[in-house]
Amino acid sequence: MKKPVLVLGGTGKTGRKIVQHLSDAGLEYRIGSRSAEKAFDWNKPEDWPEVLAGMHSMYISYQPDLAIPGALESIEKLVALAQSLGLKKLVLLSGKGEREAELCEQIVLQSGLEATVLRASWFNQNFSESFFLDPILQGHIALPKAQAKVPYVDTDDIAEVAFKVLTEDGHDQEIYELTGPDLWTFEEIIDAIAKVSKRDLQFTPISLSAYMSVMKELQLPEDVAWLIHYLFSEVIDAPGNDFISQDIEKLLGRPATSFQEYLNKTVKTGVWNP
Ligand SMILES: NC(=O)c1ccc[n+]([C@@H]2O[C@H](COP(=O)([O-])OP(=O)(O)OC[C@H]3O[C@@H](n4cnc5c(N)ncnc54)[C@H](OP(=O)(O)O)[C@@H]3O)[C@@H](O)[C@H]2O)c1
Repeated sequence: MKKPVLVLGGTGKTGRKIVQHLSDAGLEYRIGSRSAEKAFDWNKPEDWPEVLAGMHSMYISYQPDLAIPGALESIEKLVALAQSLGLKKLVLLSGKGEREAELCEQIVLQSGLEATVLRASWFNQNFSESFFLDPILQGHIALPKAQAKVPYVDTDDIAEVAFKVLTEDGHDQEIYELTGPDLWTFEEIIDAIAKVSKRDLQFTPISLSAYMSVMKELQLPEDVAWLIHYLFSEVIDAPGNDFISQDIEKLLGRPATSFQEYLNKTVKTGVWNP
């Protein structure tokens, strides 16, 4: 029986790994992104029906983040469309400690479709595939909340969990908390990256307002600057955000990838060497 999976953000940090699992298993899938064959753009809802039509399940990774104004309306619209087109299963990638994201989670969980939430901590790959990479390559990293302890999670683990949930029964109405097995501060991370990559990296703790001034100089889009401020002021050190979950181990039958394991595999790619 054909059960095609639509992977929104299917070329991104988690989505492309889910696509790889689906492809390895010989399963049918469609990538939903602006550059896909049938383009999916969160800002062009008029094009969504063609992308969702004929799909059985959908992995939803929103851009840039479920906390931004307008995300809730987009998720409501997407879920209503999934219902009307007869999709059977929704898996939402959400962010730990984000109150606004929890409203989006409820839309998915109350859709009447088989629904699962993957509520992830900050990703390890933010240091190798996303916003923290550039300063690391420049050799000087200045960040606020230097002492906040975060159970960073690996996108390999998120993708493996997502593949399992998308392709087997028994996960309806579950909220899985996806974290790594240990806590790291920015300062510890930069020291560790310096050590594995044999580079001289300088870390400077700065205030959030000084960091936002730097972001302003970089002329980031307004919603991205808003998101960065939100993540550093409301999320990174929110009460409970240092909680380490066992859900990855329970689901995959093996421990979650540690940050040191992430460092060891990532340094081999040469990504931290300018
Ligand atoms: N980073 C973290 O630490 C963290 C932690 C918890 C949760 N999250 C959540 O993870 C989600 C992002 O997932 P990810 O990191 O796997 O993705 P990502 O690496 O940010 O990937 C971006 C993907 O989204 C597509 N995309 C970008 N803009 C788009 C748009 N306007 N419309 C449609 N598609 C668009 C890109 O393809 P095209 O360029 O072809 O469109 C690409 O496939 C966000 O909702 C974020 O809140 C992140």
